[in-house]
Amino acid sequence: VPLRSYNTFGISAKARYFSTFSSADELQELTHRQKEDNLPQLILGGGSNILFTRNFDGYVLKNQVMGIEKVGEDDDYVYVKAGAGENWHGFVKYCLDADLAGVENLSLIPGNVGASPMQNIGAYGAEIKDVFHELEAFHLRDQHIVKFTNAQCEFGYRESVFKKQFKGQFAILNVTYRLNKTPRFNTSYGAIYDELEKMKIEKLTIQAISQAVINIRTSKLPDPAQIGNAGSFFKNPTIPRAQFQQLEAEYPKIVAYPTDSDHVKLAAGWLIEQCGWKGYRLGDAGVHIRQALVLVNYGNASGKDVYDLSQQILESVQEKFGVLLEREVNII
Ligand code: FAD
Ligand code: EPU
Repeated sequence: VPLRSYNTFGISAKARYFSTFSSADELQELTHRQKEDNLPQLILGGGSNILFTRNFDGYVLKNQVMGIEKVGEDDDYVYVKAGAGENWHGFVKYCLDADLAGVENLSLIPGNVGASPMQNIGAYGAEIKDVFHELEAFHLRDQHIVKFTNAQCEFGYRESVFKKQFKGQFAILNVTYRLNKTPRFNTSYGAIYDELEKMKIEKLTIQAISQAVINIRTSKLPDPAQIGNAGSFFKNPTIPRAQFQQLEAEYPKIVAYPTDSDHVKLAAGWLIEQCGWKGYRLGDAGVHIRQALVLVNYGNASGKDVYDLSQQILESVQEKFGVLLEREVNII
C-alpha cells in the first residue's frame, strides 16, 4: 500500500498492510488477529512528524477515532474530550468558537489530536501539558484500555512516556483537555507580541492570539501541501551554562534562552544556518530557505536522502559548535 499521501514529507514508502479504525472495538478486532504473525505495528495520525526511510514491513493502522464533546465543568475549567483522529487545528477552532482558552498559542500545528501528547506538542510559549487532563489508550499486545493522567505521561520538551518506555505499545484513543474559562494571555514569545502590534489589536483576545500565531507560522514555515516537510527536524538542544559561556565568547550572536539556572537552550536553526546549510539542496532533499531547522522534500527525495542530509547537518554542527543535535521527527 503506498504511503505517500499519508505522510507530509511526501515520501514514497509502502506498507505491507494498511487499515483504518474508528473505535476501540475495531482496533481490538484488527490487532487481535495480528497477534499471531508478530509483524510490527505503526499507529498513524496525520503523518506530519514521521520520516519513512524504508518500506514498512508490517501493519500501518490509521487512527480515525472521531468526536469532540464537553465532558465536565467546574468554576474555572471546562473539560473537553476529543477523538484521537480529530484534526488538531479543528479542535483548536472548536475551543476558540466556545471561548475556551489554553490552546490558542498552539494554532495551526499540523496533525491529529492523538499525537498531541506523544511529543507534548509546543509552540509560541505553550505546550499541551499545560491543558492536558487525561487520555485513554489501547495496549496493543494486552488488548485493554488504560487511562493516563498528566503526571503519568511524564511530559517534557518534545517528550512523553509514549516516546520512551512505552514506545510502540499503545494506541491513543482520545484525549481530554482542561480549558480555562478565563483566559491567561500568553504573549511572552517575542514574535507574537510584535505580530499583535502589527495587527493593531486594541483588545487582546484568544482569537487575536490565534490569528497572530497563524500569521507568523504561515510566513516562515513551509506548507506541506506545497513542499514536503515535517516541521522542525531536530530539537533545540539544552547545554550546561558553562559550555554556553564558552560558545558565547566565540560567537557573540548565538541565539539562546535560559531554561534553569544551570542550563541554556540553543536555537538549533541558528546553529544550522551558521554552518551554511540554510537553502541547501541536494537532489530533491534540502534545508528550507526561511527556516534552517526544517528539512524539506522538493518532490522525489527518498526518506534515506533526507536522513543522510540530516546526518551531515548533525555532524557539521557537532564539529563547529561541539553540540550534538537530536532528531525530533520520528524515524521509521
Ligand atoms: P504522526 O506523524 O502521524 O505520528 C507521530 C508519532 O506519533 C508516530 O510515532 C506515530 O506512531 C505516533 N502516533 C500518532 N498518533 C498516535 C496515536 N493515536 N496513538 C499512538 N501513537 C500515535 N510540532 C510541534 O510540537 N510544534 C510545532 O510548532 C510544530 N510545527 C509543525 C509545522 C509543520 C509545517 C509540520 C509539518 C509539523 C509540525 N510539528 C510541530 C510536528 C507535528 O505537527 C506534530 O508532531 C503532530 O503532533 C504530529 O501529529 P500527527 O497526527 O501528524 O502524527
Ligand atoms: N533561527 C535562525 N535561523 C533559522 C531559524 C531560526 O537564526 O534559520 C533563530 C532565530 O534567531 C529565531 C530563533 O532561531 O529567533 C528561533 O526560531 P523560531 O522562532 O522559528 O523557532 P524554532 O526554535 O526554530 C521552535 C519549535 C517549533 C515551534 C517554534 C515556535 C522546536 C524543535 N521547534 O522552533 O516547533 O513552532 O519554536 O514556538 O522546538 C516543530 O516542532 O515541528 C516546530 C515547528
